[in-house]
Amino acid sequence: MSTRTPLIYTPKILDLFKNPRNLGKMEDATISSQAGSPACGDVITIYLKIDDSRIVDASFESYGCAANIAAASIITEMVKGKTLKEAWDITWEDVTKELGGLPSIKYHCSILAVGGLKRAIRKYFEEVAKIHPEWLPNDLSKEERQALEEEELIERIYRKYGMPP
Ligand code: FES
Repeated sequence: MSTRTPLIYTPKILDLFKNPRNLGKMEDATISSQAGSPACGDVITIYLKIDDSRIVDASFESYGCAANIAAASIITEMVKGKTLKEAWDITWEDVTKELGGLPSIKYHCSILAVGGLKRAIRKYFEEVAKIHPEWLPNDLSKEERQALEEEELIERIYRKYGMPP
């Protein structure tokens, strides 16, 4: 018999995990961005369709856990119709609150999802709009920084021990 204690997920997380909204690649996305490392399996891609600085559509792909799928899904719902600035201001704490809470061990799942969103917004300004709005910080947001640190950690581990067979 298993001695593992199951994680307590809110009904909202379970619903979004079982019936994720806006799941799938968006072929005509204006921009997309990934966060996480394919090597460890926790990877999220956010797709945004942007019109006149407003997000008109959003979708996601996730190879993360239930919490990550739920966080990514709720993000795509939260950003639709928002300006890029309004979407940028969404934090992982906002997403966690919107999900009704997360077990603390799963905070990283929400951070990774918001990291993917912020990377997509930053990439849009760098590669598509080719402007730097005054509200967009030069320094990475806490969510982008955390995603980067996780990716670098995984790379270091695989450089040291090699890829699993
Ligand atoms: Fe890594 Fe959830 S995305 S544990």
